[in-house]
Amino acid sequence: MTVKNLKKYTSTLFDHIEKLHGQKSWGRFLDAGSGVNSALWSMYLPTTRWVGVTGSPSHAAQITRKIGDALRPDDKIVVGNWCEANFLKGEVFDTVLADYLLGAIEGFAPYFQDELFERLKPHIGQYLYIIGLEPYVIGQATSEEAKYVRAIGRLRDCCLLLADQSPYREYPLEWVVVSLKKAGFQISDVKRFPNIYHEKWIHAQLDMGLNRLPLLKGKQLAQSLKYEIESLRMTAVRLCHEKGGLYHGADYVIAAHL
Ligand SMILES: C[S@@+](CC[C@H](N)C(=O)[O-])C[C@H]1O[C@@H](n2cnc3c(N)ncnc32)[C@H](O)[C@@H]1O
Repeated sequence: MTVKNLKKYTSTLFDHIEKLHGQKSWGRFLDAGSGVNSALWSMYLPTTRWVGVTGSPSHAAQITRKIGDALRPDDKIVVGNWCEANFLKGEVFDTVLADYLLGAIEGFAPYFQDELFERLKPHIGQYLYIIGLEPYVIGQATSEEAKYVRAIGRLRDCCLLLADQSPYREYPLEWVVVSLKKAGFQISDVKRFPNIYHEKWIHAQLDMGLNRLPLLKGKQLAQSLKYEIESLRMTAVRLCHEKGGLYHGADYVIAAHL
């Protein structure tokens, strides 16, 4: 099977990166926080080599199931951890994508976020593209929609923590820009893309919490959380229908180079 047999994944954010990149060569490509979406987008680009990194063997298996047959002899999916100093030592890529990698670091290398861009630096030949999510769990919620989005995030994360798991920790665009500059990068473009959360998102987040409840030690606590989840689900879905979606927060894309 070749990449042409795969269905390309597209999104406004990936389209934006393609527009920013223009006619420049993609060369050797590193998907530094790989997943099915970023793999199904970047595998389609005219790269000379493709490497996808994930911290999770089950994630790697999922990506392999989707794109494994289309990998060229030099392409690979690697399970590893960016906090290990020798991981991918000596491998340099013309283009590096960090697609929601920063927010996921908490689960694989907590407190390493500050060092991430310095760590990626020796692997970046030319271009670095970062996709991130403005935090919505921590910080002020200034609209009714924001309060619901935050409440959903907090309840989800609370269930994950009680089930002994680590929720994502997202970072604001400004934080990433400062961190990139500290690591010696030049920023060539930043753009925010406002988010609208639909009913599907509400269910996905709350179900993530609900599915963790059997792992809790306190059965009474699990019962109370289940009640909280279902009542929040009902009111959030109602508001979502009234407003035509929960308009809150943003994703962002940052283009940087050395
Ligand atoms: C939210 S997922 C990225 C989404 C993905 N790009 C997609 O298209 O679905 C984050 C990815 O970064 C990886 N990751 C997080 N921290 C890592 C670390 N310290 N070292 C290596 N990979 C890491 C996770 O294993 C996962 O593959």
